Parts: sequence; structure tokens; C-alpha cells
Amino acid sequence: MKNMQLSIDKALDFVSKSDIDAYSKAVAQASVALEDGTGKGNDFLGWLHLPSSITEEMIQDIEETARQLRSTCDAVVVAGIGGSYLGAKAVIEALSDSFSWLKKGDSPVILFAGNNISEDYLAELTELLRNRRFGIINISKSGTTTETALTFRLLKTQLEQQEGKAEASKRIVAITDKAKGALRQLSTQEGYKTFVIPDNVGGRFSVLTPVGLLPIAVAGFDIRQLISGAVEMEKNCGKDISFDQNLAAIYAATRNELYRRGKKIEILVNFHPKLHYLAEWWKQLYGESEGKEGKGIYPASVDFTTDLHSMGQWIQEGERIIFETVISVATPEKKVIFPHDDENLDGLNFLAGKRVDEVNKMAELGTQLAHVDGGVPNLRIEIPSLNEFYIGELIYFFEKACGISGYILGVNPFDQPGVEAYKKNMFALLEKPGYEKETEAIKKRLS
Ligand code: PA5
Repeated sequence: MKNMQLSIDKALDFVSKSDIDAYSKAVAQASVALEDGTGKGNDFLGWLHLPSSITEEMIQDIEETARQLRSTCDAVVVAGIGGSYLGAKAVIEALSDSFSWLKKGDSPVILFAGNNISEDYLAELTELLRNRRFGIINISKSGTTTETALTFRLLKTQLEQQEGKAEASKRIVAITDKAKGALRQLSTQEGYKTFVIPDNVGGRFSVLTPVGLLPIAVAGFDIRQLISGAVEMEKNCGKDISFDQNLAAIYAATRNELYRRGKKIEILVNFHPKLHYLAEWWKQLYGESEGKEGKGIYPASVDFTTDLHSMGQWIQEGERIIFETVISVATPEKKVIFPHDDENLDGLNFLAGKRVDEVNKMAELGTQLAHVDGGVPNLRIEIPSLNEFYIGELIYFFEKACGISGYILGVNPFDQPGVEAYKKNMFALLEKPGYEKETEAIKKRLS
């Protein structure tokens, strides 16, 4: 079977191969620190060997729970925010028919909520779910995240009103800490089916736990293949694989060298709209892991060719502080041949008989060359096709490279202290019990 590939050739006009190779020692140290648990944040390394340690019993439990939700629900709402939803959303979008929401399929529609506090969004969601057979997967490791908890209370109330308490409790699954948090307590009291997020797996590294696997299975995708792809990459990026063969190591080293040379922004590029949320997941993974202590590459993303008509100008000629990492899919799942037209009024007969993907690929290559000419180093990741196996490879590749990259940068890639600042202010402004001192201080500041 073919594997994912990484090419850094088009970054080598900007950084030298020998400077990248010089990271091999730092990468080896980072890999050993991850493996031995001697680095920063070492109580959050459960993701490192997660793919190869998922048990058959766990997979069966997830599959059985997914079967039950699939048989009782037309829609399943996944309530979660950050790492508690982005992985599932990324995989489901990447694998779904682009118009599945308009087609009547065998799978329930998967909706995402609890990731914002928009009243319009919640009003429209609850209206959509009125008198529909729906279920809820409520995901929160802490069990106390406001966005998710607020949404869950609304949805739970609606489900109980529509179905009665007993039936509602069968259609609610909670994924949370094994003991701590309001969601655990509520689940025990209400008798919900639950899954545990392991203590040592942080939110943004949790897609290969039930956090990601259950929604993906409910959507009808093959979680065994997803895990197999991740297992393959776990092997191929292991600490015993030499630097020049280890894709996660090369990626981590190259981006750190580019960063050292002033490339402060990495743009993840795709040429398939289905990969939009994979980039959102990646942005969270790298943004929360590396952006601290006044350091870190800013992770951005674009969908090409769409955004060539909006951000393309900036990328081609704006401040030269960016590099791009392109995710390319070698062969699309479906085939469209461009038709011949006798009149050729649009002048497009030169494309007749070609696959649309050939046009897309030439757009990709043409863009890459233009951006390199414009001073934008390019990395390129190629996956053979868009299926569960290769998405699993991509996920583990990015996770492993993130751990290595964060250690090279010298930060703790597994905490996110900066996320607390807005919460403290919000609670103070909302006069949450326990925040009296902060409320007083913030009122003074705003007066
Ligand atoms: O990566 C992380 O740890 C965060 O993005 C969390 O996933 C996010 O804040 C949600 O937290 P919780 O699952 O506790 O509701």
C-alpha cells in the first residue's frame, strides 16, 4: 500500500538542507523526551501510542453505541468545543459527500453545536430539531465548559420534552473525565451511556479516542481503517526511525528552521473544500500547542483555488513572513471528464476529455511555482486518496510532528494556559458565584 509523502524540495531555496539536517539531534532528543516522558507536559502523552493501544473491546463498544444512535436518530448533535469537536468535524467533512445534507442517506445527519454561544445558532438548531428524532453526543473533558454545557442543557430539555425522560436518556451519550466534572455527575445521575477521555490525553490530541471515534462511527465511517492509518504512521514516525525517513521529524525540523529565518506564519493549503475542517483541526493543534511564551508559528489556512481569488494576492506579494504546507490528494474518489463543445464559445475545448482533477492539479503546481517565485517556501504533503486510512495517517503525523516541534521550540506543547483569560473575564462580567472579586475589579475597570 502507498503511504503519505512529504516533500520539502520547494523550501530549499529558502533554508538549506544542511540547516534542516542540523535539527536531527534536537529531534532525537524531543522524540526520546516524548517516549520516556521526561519533557514538559509529560502527564499528557497518552496520545503518543494511542493508535496501537486502542483495544478491540473499546472499538466494539464505540461501534455498538454508534449502531444504536444510527437506528434511533435522524440527526445526532455533537456538543463540544475545541479539541472536543474539531477532530470529528474534520474527519466527517473530509469523508462525506459534499452535499450529503441534501441527500437522503442511511446515516443520521451529524450536527455540531456547543462550539459557540450564538443565540441565533441555537434558536435555529432547536427549531430544526423540533419533532425530529435526534440524539446528543455531549463531549467535554472538564465537563464544565460553558459553551458546551449551555448548549447541552437546551438540547437535553428539548429532547426530554419531545421524547420523555426515559427515551431521551437512551439517546444521550456523554464523553468526559472518568470521575471529575459536572457532566460526569449528571451522566451518573441520569444513567447516560458514557465514554472516558483518558486523563493523559488533552483535548486537541483526542480525536482517536471516543471523542472523535464515536461521532465518526455514527456518521457511518470506518473507524478501524482510520485507526489502522494512524497505527501505520505511529510505526513510521517512531523514535527508532532515522531522521531522513521520519516524516514527522522532517516536518518539525523544516518548519522550525523556517520560523528561525523569519517565516512566522504557516498556511495550510488544500485544493479540496472537504479538507477545510482538517485545517481548522490542525490550526487548533498547532496554535494551542505552540503559541505561548511570546513564541510560535501562527497557523493559518486557505482553501484553494477558492481563496486564490481573495488571499492569493497577499500570499503572492504581501509581507514575506509566510510559508505554505500544501495537502495534495493524488487521486479523487470520483471522476468527472470535461466535455467537448462544438461551438467552443467559452474557448475551453483545450480541456475537453481531461479529468477536472487534472485542471486542479495544474492549478496546484502553477500556484506552488508562483508562490515559490514570490518568496513563499512550500512544503507538500501528498496522500494517495481521501479515505479513512490516509486521514488516520495525516492525523497521527501532525500530532507527532506537533509534539516534536513544540519541544524544539522549547515550549510545553500540551497545556493552554492562555485560554483561561477570556473565561475569567466572562465569568466576572456574568457575575458567576465565586468570581465576586473579579466582578468588582472588572466593573471598576469598565467604569
Ligand atoms: O485542546 C484542548 O484542551 C481544548 O481545546 C479543549 O478541547 C476545549 O477547551 C474543550 O474543553 P472540554 O473538553 O474540557 O470542554
